[in-house]
Amino acid sequence: MDKIRIRGGRPLQGEIEISGAKNASLPLMAAGLLTDERLVLTRVPVLADTQTMALLLEQHGIAVERPANDGHTLSLGGPITNTEAPYDIVSRMRASILVLGPLLARTREARVSLPGGCEIGARPVDLHLKGLEQMGATILLEGGYVNAKAPNGLQGATIVFPLPSVGATENLLMAATLANGRTVLANAAREPEIINLCDCLVAMGAQITGIGTDRLTIDGVASLHGATCAVIADRIETGTYACAAGITGGTLHLRGGRLDHLGALVSTLAEVGVEITATDTGITVQRRNGLHGVDAMTSPYPGFPTDMQAQYMVLMSVAEGASMITETIFENRFMHVPELNRMGARINVHGASAIVRGTPWLSGAPVMATDLRASVSLILAGLVARGETIVNDVHHLDRGFETVERKLAACGADIERMT
Ligand code: EPZ
Repeated sequence: MDKIRIRGGRPLQGEIEISGAKNASLPLMAAGLLTDERLVLTRVPVLADTQTMALLLEQHGIAVERPANDGHTLSLGGPITNTEAPYDIVSRMRASILVLGPLLARTREARVSLPGGCEIGARPVDLHLKGLEQMGATILLEGGYVNAKAPNGLQGATIVFPLPSVGATENLLMAATLANGRTVLANAAREPEIINLCDCLVAMGAQITGIGTDRLTIDGVASLHGATCAVIADRIETGTYACAAGITGGTLHLRGGRLDHLGALVSTLAEVGVEITATDTGITVQRRNGLHGVDAMTSPYPGFPTDMQAQYMVLMSVAEGASMITETIFENRFMHVPELNRMGARINVHGASAIVRGTPWLSGAPVMATDLRASVSLILAGLVARGETIVNDVHHLDRGFETVERKLAACGADIERMT
């Protein structure tokens, strides 16, 4: 298994190109199931998760081609020949559940393995299933699989989510584009990735209003057609490198990064002492004097993103003063804390909150990551630690960050991958 070795203490200076967003690419790829015509997606990051989604689409019968040399353009097309999403693929990547809505809308039946829990929490999919039932589907859970049928097609419905779920919003949105009549999704999630999906569906012929709000109205159409859509820049990768600049006391230009997609992160980082400004080609991040401890609580977009919580905790670990970080989205997302404490951080967890007491420096150590964002937080810690840090077993990292070690090394970090 690959490892990453970092020798800390160098301020980062330079430019990093932000990749297309993993969490936008996965639903956009699933949207390829909504038409037999070609859906061309550009700026798809080359990651383990996008490769898993390509594999899943292929076994549904979709041809996945990569016409450009860089591998970042995917051309999807062809009829669905198999409506089953098997356990061995779904267990690798939970976002596989996103094929359920499109398969059911297109073929009126689907058999999709239930994803089960994961490292960061139980992560049920009840809202996906209840929404499809409200749209007239019959759902039977059997042998670890969701067996869904809608012999007369899905029917438009008004669905009020008890909480804004990103995945359930995406699944039901895609299903509703081909349903009979009008569907309203209220208290829907409104992450930039959902806007990206809506824009792409509209380019494919879907009728959607309320895009960017928490109330989406979808008027079903008989069929969708091919289109070309670009994946938005990854806001979590952007935020992660912004933290890297802050932690190391450097200045980074993040090409393609979008200030308007960072939500509450911008004002929180400004209070900490990390300034983010928009430029013509992206954003510039710069540390101003010292770092100050500032509390943060995760919440749905545009609140502070749960996918930035671990990285922010490293920033707080080396800031002056104490801060409280509260995780409200997932119940087990502090698995990075014991590893950060092994590197000299002073963090205590009490239920859903972590108290972080800043310390002037961390110390390098061999560490192990348990999930994607935790892995990259350990890399950030390594950048500011004295001595050598070895981040073991980086397969989680490869699910969501494109060439992280090359991007950081190009800005002066002493970092290398050991295979
Ligand atoms: C998406 O997961 C992201 N994944 C996650 O990114 C991200 O952390 C999360 O949204 C929150 O922003 C992708 O986009 C592929 P949710 P998703 O449904 O859709 C509860 C990463 O590191 N819930 O918005 O699974 C759920 O348990 C990953 O890239 C239900 O109770 O998240 C959670 O507490 C990790 N029932 C809350 O809602 C449901 O049916 C929000 O989850 C669905 C969700």
